[in-house]
Amino acid sequence: MQRLVYIETYGCQMNEHDSEQILRVLEGANYLETKEAQQADLILVNTCSVREKPEQKVYSALGRFKRLKEEKGTILGVTGCVAQQEGEKLLDRIPYLDMVVGTQAILLIPQMLKRVEVIGEKVCETGFDEKGTHLKTPLPSGSLPNVKSFVTIMQGCDHFCSYCIVPYVRGREKSRASAEILEEVKHLAERGVKEVCLLGQNVNGYGKGLEGEMSFPELLRAIDGIEGIERIRFTTSHPADLSLGLIRAFSELGKLCEHIHLPFQSGSNRILKAMHRGYTRESYLEKIDRLKEVCSSIAITADVMVGFPGEEENDFEETLDLMEKVRFDDLYSFKYSPRKGTKASRHEHQVEEKRKQERLALLQKIQKETTLQRNMAFLGRIEEVLVEGYSKQSRRDMGGRTRTNKTVNFKGDLTLLGRRIPVRITNAYAHSLRGERGSSDEKARAGGIERRSHDPIGTDLHEFSPSPPGET
Ligand code: 5AD
Ligand code: SF4
Repeated sequence: MQRLVYIETYGCQMNEHDSEQILRVLEGANYLETKEAQQADLILVNTCSVREKPEQKVYSALGRFKRLKEEKGTILGVTGCVAQQEGEKLLDRIPYLDMVVGTQAILLIPQMLKRVEVIGEKVCETGFDEKGTHLKTPLPSGSLPNVKSFVTIMQGCDHFCSYCIVPYVRGREKSRASAEILEEVKHLAERGVKEVCLLGQNVNGYGKGLEGEMSFPELLRAIDGIEGIERIRFTTSHPADLSLGLIRAFSELGKLCEHIHLPFQSGSNRILKAMHRGYTRESYLEKIDRLKEVCSSIAITADVMVGFPGEEENDFEETLDLMEKVRFDDLYSFKYSPRKGTKASRHEHQVEEKRKQERLALLQKIQKETTLQRNMAFLGRIEEVLVEGYSKQSRRDMGGRTRTNKTVNFKGDLTLLGRRIPVRITNAYAHSLRGERGSSDEKARAGGIERRSHDPIGTDLHEFSPSPPGET
């Protein structure tokens, strides 16, 4: 019998991708997706626990679904990081909850459902899967309407930054075999996917622990050679693991888009040390310089945090100073949020909420101006846009992204879907650009590749200055 599943997803791209994987696994158990929770036989809340705010959303979401459970007997489950972190405790705390599915238990969902449906058991699976079997999820079936797709290449993190819950809820770094990744990318290309975004908590760590496996730059090169794939992106990168080989890939691989997300978290060496980040502001800036040398048009985005325990005014000023030096295209900025079980949460000098709020507001105000200025630099340029679908605002407009990951809206129709077209940029806003379709003879100038300078990283150049050893 065909059943319906509704998934509500919180958190990062990894979670969004996990939700897609869950849907694929459930397809095999005869469940189809519905966008209406009221219609569903099964409701899953895919959760994030990286900060307190998203974690709280889980409990309010479950509260909303309680009535459906009582009225219709809908099966209710929690997946993702909060499920992993809280485990059985969630079943005690929320008596109407049926399932708790840890981050490495997605493949077990059909079996778990049987136990709920047939025996009426409440079930919880939060074990870590040392063999990495959970990374082998079914390939997408049927035709995909999507122009772009995520592909998980590794999961977990070995860095243990002192504020971060991720290594506890996602486990240690584990990479997928390259043969399997390449098979998935080919499969996606055959189904019309033009852009892949390679996902992992620390993609630069790809291949660690897998005997004879490709390095991350080698993997990128292999994907660059796959017919049908036109653009490659990846996220997220750790500055300490960003190698010269990867930086060079930006000048060598035509399909690799000119954008990197490189979280710096703080501009103060004292705070970076306390965070156990394994690099200094100087070594971070050095890597940014190299990236800009190799690829002058590269867009740089990052994550940053204010109010880490012990952060003083001068540490915060160093963060603002680093922002001024790099001039990020965009920043994801957060107030430090203590996470139970992490070292920083036990630090005695927690920063007052009011201070955190003030610092965040100032940082965001400054970044907003920089983002707008960076976007305004695109005015009058002709950019290659991969058309992804209707624009968010209107069905009269189509939307897509530049190679530098800027959203561009323009007048057009669905016949352009999946095509790379030249667009002349006419307006710049804080979150997007607007443009007009360029003529086809302008196309040649639209590609990002010719804006790169030729490999200025000679073979005789020294490696980066050594980063301080991690203290984890
Ligand atoms: N408090 C605030 N922000 C955090 N992040 C991770 N852990 C915390 C925390 N405890 C932020 C970091 C990371 C992003 C995904 O979330 O900036 O890069
Ligand atoms: Fe968390 Fe640090 Fe790992 Fe990123 S590198 S997931 S911030 S522990």
